[in-house]
Amino acid sequence: MSLPLSGKTAIVTGASSGIGRAIAEKLGAAGAHVYLSGRTREAMEETKKRIERGAGRATVVASDVRDVRQIPALVEQAASETGRLDVMVNNAGVSYPAPILEGDPEQWRAMFETNVIALLAGCQAAVQAMRACKAAGHIVNISSIAALRADSGVYGATKHAVNCISATLRRELEDDTIRVVNVMPGAIATNFARNFDPKVVAGLVQASGLQVEVKRGERIPDEVLEKIQPALRKILGSPEDVAEAVLYAVMQPIHVNIAEIAVRPPKQLAI
Ligand SMILES: NC(=O)c1ccc[n+]([C@@H]2O[C@H](COP(=O)([O-])OP(=O)(O)OC[C@H]3O[C@@H](n4cnc5c(N)ncnc54)[C@H](OP(=O)(O)O)[C@@H]3O)[C@@H](O)[C@H]2O)c1
Repeated sequence: MSLPLSGKTAIVTGASSGIGRAIAEKLGAAGAHVYLSGRTREAMEETKKRIERGAGRATVVASDVRDVRQIPALVEQAASETGRLDVMVNNAGVSYPAPILEGDPEQWRAMFETNVIALLAGCQAAVQAMRACKAAGHIVNISSIAALRADSGVYGATKHAVNCISATLRRELEDDTIRVVNVMPGAIATNFARNFDPKVVAGLVQASGLQVEVKRGERIPDEVLEKIQPALRKILGSPEDVAEAVLYAVMQPIHVNIAEIAVRPPKQLAI
């Protein structure tokens, strides 16, 4: 049976949890060969199994996007092993919420390197690979609704940068068969909260009714996220909601550019 993305190759950065994992699974279920990139191999191996139980194929590439050389290497691996690249999802991202006056420059650096520099390198490498195989390609950049507010802090500044990069790249690629899709999620139940104030994380765990201890920076167990999201549906979207929007955008014919998508739960938190 031919599926919409049968025979296509996709790369998803930050595929070890949250939105990236959901996008990887969605693209895999639509028939793509998905390259999963992130630092946590074990989690991605689980996702690979789930994709391969369906119609897709998956390859796990453990890499750190802050080492910018690893990004063209990842793209080169996917393109040389499958002969093509059709979808590049620049999703890996981190947030360290703190007032600017109390911020830690190392955390500012982590946010800019992960959310902006890695995304730029991903766009550049993907365009080269897509042009080489004459793909009708899609570059999907995961921004945030934080980019729609002027006062969304250093994290917001990285996402304003993503919006600017997506819009500029879209113009640079007008005469190519490559479309740029900028996706701005609202608050979504993921590991994203792992660097938040421990009281916020403890509140999430408590709301899930599970007895687990999560230290700042550690992965929030999937069971916690899966329990709290339906309970807090009004203020927290699910990663699958975002993945569904991405699938819709990359399935459009190349003369249609779904340029911007905001995916929000009904009630908006400031993030
Ligand atoms: N959740 C929200 O409310 C929300 C709202 C708006 C936008 N977003 C954006 O959505 C994207 C995905 O975030 P999420 O919510 O799904 O959070 P998440 O569950 O924490 O996922 C972040 C992903 O990025 C990866 N990552 C982080 N640093 C990395 C690095 N140096 N190298 C490689 N991979 C790295 C993480 O994998 P490893 O830790 O395994 O490396 C993980 O797979 C981010 O760009 C985020 O800014 C999220």
